[in-house]
Amino acid sequence: MPPTENTSSAPGTTSTSGTPAIEFKDVEKRFGKTTVLKDLNFTVAPGERVTLIGPSGSGKTTILRLVMTLEELTGGFIFVDGKPLTHTEKNGKRVELPSKTTRAMTTRIGMVFQQFNLFPNMTVLENIIEAPVHVLGKPKAEAVKEAKSLLEKVGLGEKADEHPTRLSGGQQQRVAIARALAMSPEILLLDEVTSALDPELVGDVLGVLRDIAETTDITMLLVTHEMQFAREVSHRVMMFDGGQVLEEGPPDQIFNNPQHERTRTFLSSVQ
Ligand SMILES: Nc1ncnc2c1ncn2[C@@H]1O[C@H](COP(=O)(O)OP(=O)(O)OP(=O)(O)O)[C@@H](O)[C@H]1O
Ligand SMILES: [Mg+2]
Repeated sequence: MPPTENTSSAPGTTSTSGTPAIEFKDVEKRFGKTTVLKDLNFTVAPGERVTLIGPSGSGKTTILRLVMTLEELTGGFIFVDGKPLTHTEKNGKRVELPSKTTRAMTTRIGMVFQQFNLFPNMTVLENIIEAPVHVLGKPKAEAVKEAKSLLEKVGLGEKADEHPTRLSGGQQQRVAIARALAMSPEILLLDEVTSALDPELVGDVLGVLRDIAETTDITMLLVTHEMQFAREVSHRVMMFDGGQVLEEGPPDQIFNNPQHERTRTFLSSVQ
């Protein structure tokens, strides 16, 4: 899909009404004494695909890990579908939600990592059905059927009984994508999912993601150094620096006509 088409049809971005799929409100993230994110505010509309770009260490992975609740939020609030994810406000005080509530929310969120993170002692099929069976309580036969159809979708129908160590990096990453999709996520977080791959394997993985973008309405928040891919699939690109959104806009605007010198230098270093 050309970017010019994307920008006019970006879901939710032309309207101020509607509940965002993801909302960061005054988010702060500290690691010890180091503040990585400060007063960070942004929203992602349902079905919107947003790419985070910015220099190394600007906090992109941290943002995704906060949404996945793999990092503890040290200040502010994150809302998913309008509901607080980890903390809420009660009588003017910020209070932590019960872990059960947070866990229930995260079943709707999938994440794919740079290093695949598959379970090495399980077959491809077992990797994919693990969470649907044990977290969602899906009957095994149903989970297996869905897993097989997802494996077909990512081009790995023949590999169901293989162990991940016997697959190429690109194949492992496609299994990881199928595993995330098996939970029927409303939100998919992708953190540099092609960075660990040999160049000739990148295309297959991006092809699978393009297909997901074109055929589903899953909200996507992604970090990638594949700028051409970001242009094709994103409705919006957000440039981060120093824990803040420096500028944001449709890919055409950010890549062709960035407003900040910092964005221009960053883009010339990666393109
Ligand atoms: N577990 C941790 N403990 C301490 N500091 C951390 C931890 N995780 C991240 N940081 C720090 O937080 C900052 C943001 O890291 P993050 O991984 O989010 O950056 P990034 O934008 O994803 O960078 P890259 O492009 O290199 O992946 C960095 O300065 C990093 O050193
Ligand atoms: Mg990172």
